[in-house]
Amino acid sequence: MANLDTLAPDARPDGAQANVILRAENLRKKYRTGEEDLEVLRGVSIELREGETVAITGASGVGKSTLLHILGALDRPTEGSLHIRGVDVLDLDDDERAEFRSAHVGFVFQFHNLLPEFTALENVMMPALIARHADGMEARARGLLEQVDLAQRLDHRPGELSGGECQRVAVARALVMKPELVLADEPSGNLDDVASRRLHDLMRELARVENQAFLVMTHDRDLAASLDRTGHIDGGILELC
Ligand SMILES: Nc1ncnc2c1ncn2[C@@H]1O[C@H](COP(=O)(O)OP(=O)(O)OP(=O)(O)O)[C@@H](O)[C@H]1O
Ligand SMILES: [Mg+2]
Repeated sequence: MANLDTLAPDARPDGAQANVILRAENLRKKYRTGEEDLEVLRGVSIELREGETVAITGASGVGKSTLLHILGALDRPTEGSLHIRGVDVLDLDDDERAEFRSAHVGFVFQFHNLLPEFTALENVMMPALIARHADGMEARARGLLEQVDLAQRLDHRPGELSGGECQRVAVARALVMKPELVLADEPSGNLDDVASRRLHDLMRELARVENQAFLVMTHDRDLAASLDRTGHIDGGILELC
């Protein structure tokens, strides 16, 4: 078997270029509800490279969360292909996919999905605890909570945090494993202008310094304008600029 690292990027056997993290082609998604099919995505393709920041906008209900869940291998498309780091993730079984996700993808859910019984610090450490990579993670989790201005809230449980604070904990949790790909679903939806600007700065800084790629679904025009590329979903189609 050829060593992938020594091949020219376009000579790789999977046809992937070395710095491409995610490649999705012709994704379609139909939901079946009762008698009718609802076709939410009608052939969406996107490619993301290391260190790239991309924002996607679109009206409520156009399929932003649906697309993000598919790109994060949390849900399956009805049709289409998805490769992350050249791996055909739709071909993996459930356990393999969960393991792959934990190693490569950080996900910020639209409704944060924090565990109510655990503190902010424990929630941020959770992906590391689940992956049994706890060494040094407490310090990293504390550092990330400081970066999202929550150093004074480490021991608060989600019920003792504001909506915007929960969202910032969820961002820190998505970053704790240093994933090369971060998928964020309206991460600044509950934040005021200052907090959302700081979050945008953090994403751009991490993309530059750590080479992480960020794909963000957002209604926030300032955020969208401050990232490298923007796209817009309408009628099940993604137009990228
Ligand atoms: N499991 C499901 N079964 C059936 N229909 C669904 C399901 N999940 C989502 N939908 C529908 O698919 C469409 C897209 O939903 P999605 O959550 O992706 O929208 P969105 O762009 O993220 O919206 P918002 O900006 O409000 O978060 C919506 O019309 C929704 O009602
Ligand atoms: Mg959504």
